[in-house]
Amino acid sequence: MRVGIMTSGGDCPGLNAVIRGAVLNGIKSHDQEYVGFLDGWKGVLEDLTVDLSRHVVRGIAKQGGTILGTSRTHPYNAEGGGAAGVAAALERHGLDALVAIGGEGTLAGAKRLADEGLPIVGVPKTIDNDLGGTDYTFGFDTAVQIGTEAIDRLRTTGESHHRCMVAEVMGRHAGWIALHTGMAAGAHAVLIPEQKVSMAQIAEWVGDAEDRGRAPLVVVAEGFVPEDADEVHTPLGLDRHGRPRLGGIGDRLAPIIEEMTGIETRATTLGHIQRGGTPTAFDRVLATRMGMGAADLVADGEWGRMVALKGTDIERVPLEAALQSLKTVPQHRYDEAAILFG
Ligand code: F6P
Repeated sequence: MRVGIMTSGGDCPGLNAVIRGAVLNGIKSHDQEYVGFLDGWKGVLEDLTVDLSRHVVRGIAKQGGTILGTSRTHPYNAEGGGAAGVAAALERHGLDALVAIGGEGTLAGAKRLADEGLPIVGVPKTIDNDLGGTDYTFGFDTAVQIGTEAIDRLRTTGESHHRCMVAEVMGRHAGWIALHTGMAAGAHAVLIPEQKVSMAQIAEWVGDAEDRGRAPLVVVAEGFVPEDADEVHTPLGLDRHGRPRLGGIGDRLAPIIEEMTGIETRATTLGHIQRGGTPTAFDRVLATRMGMGAADLVADGEWGRMVALKGTDIERVPLEAALQSLKTVPQHRYDEAAILFG
């Protein structure tokens, strides 16, 4: 059986471990051969391929990024795309199946193609951990690790200068990275898109920390909007994919916190640092197991399904499980973390 594999959407630590897991399990357990498409759906539609032998995937699990490259090309919106275009590409390369590794957009495209009869399986990917159908996504643990290390560093410089330090982490729609990073680093406030919090409450947490002789630490997810500060609501426009431009919430909050509390405040945006570099051991293992699971799905011809982590097991769920609703931080997880604020 010949199998195509591609990575699509934003990159994520662990993508290479998925590719290696699929290729090794495919070759060893199922007599499969793998062809990689470069740059996501663009490579599928434009015949950009690379043969993936055991030799090519050797040692790549620890590498960040994706050896296949990625793009935000949509299989239906691109020229020559749609089910007919993708089916023709599989045929041109003599492929019996396609493994699509990606986030919500990629998996939605994969589901639509599978519904139209194409032999496609999925692997869920996002550092934000906000996809439904799976308990965790690979890349999240790495992002939290990087965030925690960065905030540990911000703490010592903050303490030396008696400053409040604001760290902005990724999380467009969900605050998982902020919540876990904040808990791990002992933040005095964690601000996430799911929870509307007033500036007065933020200032109170910061002030309480300072009263106890601490350098206040605030972790804010890029998608957070305070309840009542009009100046931080100004949109930054749209990016080239038509999505609102995020980033900058930390910089916008810092002067307001400084003004309200009288504590000198500095902001740092971690940005794409959280997505780059080597994955943690946890993410390498999770990603490898997901890749191996994808090869098993292909061997069993379970089209329209994806691998998912349930507890400690890799299971198989329909692609729509990832698409039904965004997995946001539930109230009880926020309330639990909030006991530690201030
Ligand atoms: O994968 C999701 C994410 O990490 C978001 O948290 C962030 O808003 C987005 O990617 C940024 O991606 P890019 O800059 O690649 O468009």
